[in-house]
Amino acid sequence: MTSTAAPASATTGAARSNPAGSRQRARTILTVTVNGREREDLIADGMLLLDYLRSVAGLTGTKQGCDGGECGACTVLVDDRPRLACSTLAVQVQGRRIETVEGLTEGGRMSPLQQAFHERLGAQCGFCTPGMITTAEALLRRNPDPSVAEIKTALGGNLCRCTGYVKIIESVQVAAAARKEGA
Ligand code: FES
Ligand code: FES
Repeated sequence: MTSTAAPASATTGAARSNPAGSRQRARTILTVTVNGREREDLIADGMLLLDYLRSVAGLTGTKQGCDGGECGACTVLVDDRPRLACSTLAVQVQGRRIETVEGLTEGGRMSPLQQAFHERLGAQCGFCTPGMITTAEALLRRNPDPSVAEIKTALGGNLCRCTGYVKIIESVQVAAAARKEGA
């Protein structure tokens, strides 16, 4: 467990006894599980999940693209569901289970999905890739054998300016087949 937190009573007490404290930015001790490891961090209430993951947790795999909920590059999994980290406050995921692209590796190696993106050229510049992979991972967890239409629908909120999407869809299909073989 990583802990950078001060006792909650220290901050709330200061705010109560000192009027100036009430003007200070509110802070919260965030307890979350990130990629299988529980963390506790003292964070500003207004901190975005994207900034928490990249700057506090040091997980820079999650990308900041549009920063406005349009591109999907910042997608992470929260309790197995895709979520835009640029449009989510870190305090909104209090107590939840977060997975980033780094956490999808298996035994220190690329997962079948990550491998498929690598081998089938689903990743070119790679900027959209973490969001594509986390979104596709969520799809394959709930639907191990998706059709092309289902893949397109699932990835509809993830933009890529390099691949033309064909290779990305192929990568997800290859990963689905590999997961079935390995099951
Ligand atoms: S950076 Fe979050 S949707 Fe674009
Ligand atoms: S691989 Fe470059 S944006 Fe998708």
